[in-house]
Amino acid sequence: MSLRSVIAGTGSALPARRVSNAELAETVDTSDEWIVERTGIRFRHLAGEGETTATLAAGAARAALASAGIDASEIDLIVLATSTPDQTFPASATIVQTALGIPDCIAFDVQAVCSGFLYAITVADNMLRGGAARCALVIGSETFSRILDWEDRGTCVLFGDGAGAVVLRAEEGERGVLASRLHADGRHNQLLYVDGGPSTTGTVGKLRMRGKEVFRHAVVNLAAVMGEALDAAGLSFEEVDWVVPHQANRRILDATARKLGLSPDKIVITVDEHANTSAASVPLALDVAVRDGRIARGDIVVLEAMGGGFTWGASVVRF
Ligand code: UT7
Repeated sequence: MSLRSVIAGTGSALPARRVSNAELAETVDTSDEWIVERTGIRFRHLAGEGETTATLAAGAARAALASAGIDASEIDLIVLATSTPDQTFPASATIVQTALGIPDCIAFDVQAVCSGFLYAITVADNMLRGGAARCALVIGSETFSRILDWEDRGTCVLFGDGAGAVVLRAEEGERGVLASRLHADGRHNQLLYVDGGPSTTGTVGKLRMRGKEVFRHAVVNLAAVMGEALDAAGLSFEEVDWVVPHQANRRILDATARKLGLSPDKIVITVDEHANTSAASVPLALDVAVRDGRIARGDIVVLEAMGGGFTWGASVVRF
């Protein structure tokens, strides 16, 4: 028996407004056919007035606490993955802390773009196993609609807003996070970035992406890091029950599955409903598959993501 970080509950939250490809095509030079064929995306949720990264994160956190049957007062660590915080500082995690009525805990944001949730869960897992905390909220939350260039059809149709969360609790036993592997390669900054920031332009900036190059790197890096994480857990691809991937593009998910010889039936896909919600996409997809009964207690689940930086990572969890 060893001390592990067990996923005790999952939750998610989406903005009220759900936008179809056809609705986008009324204002952007695009079509439902192009978006579906090239990406698999059919809908995305876009944040409206009063909906922010922190409000969505708090909604997902409440749902995760309810599903775990845990009171917010038991939380002693909040790690929030986001690239679209409510303010440059303080961390949006502290806004969530206040929204949940937690007077004192450790709370900070992690910024690794679309891989943010993998970075966040790895940091939280290490803190829990190291004894710094006992019960954590690990959240991915984004409002990418606010950093999109709505004149750039090559990017604005791809992203959506939302949040997903897990309650991670230190417990003795077989369940929990078994292994994680993270990577970054900053040489690829200019393939996927935001063209502003507090220390350069003094503005928030807009997302820029060279999609084809990102696509190529994604398939190679994701296949490799899943293999590394499974090796570290002493498991093989045959033993995996579910892969919960970052939801960037249906074609990336299909190509990665083909490369690894994984059955498409084992891949959780929500990109059609949520589009790319960056750090929120993995915990959002996880929550969907837990709530609809696909992912069950004891299943071996691989979480994976790749994004700006580049950053990429994978975690293997016995759910
Ligand atoms: O989350 C972080 C990771 N991000 C990703 O993983 C994204 C990875 N990349 C991708 O998903 C794909 O590369 C895209 C979906 C972004 C683009 O697909 P693509 O098959 O690589 O298309 P493309 O960029 O090469 O564009 C093909 C054509 C171009 O027209 P021409 O030059 O062939 O005449 C584009 O102008 O499609 C055109 N196009 C569009 N047409 C209609 C680009 N965007 C649109 C659009 N609607 N929204």
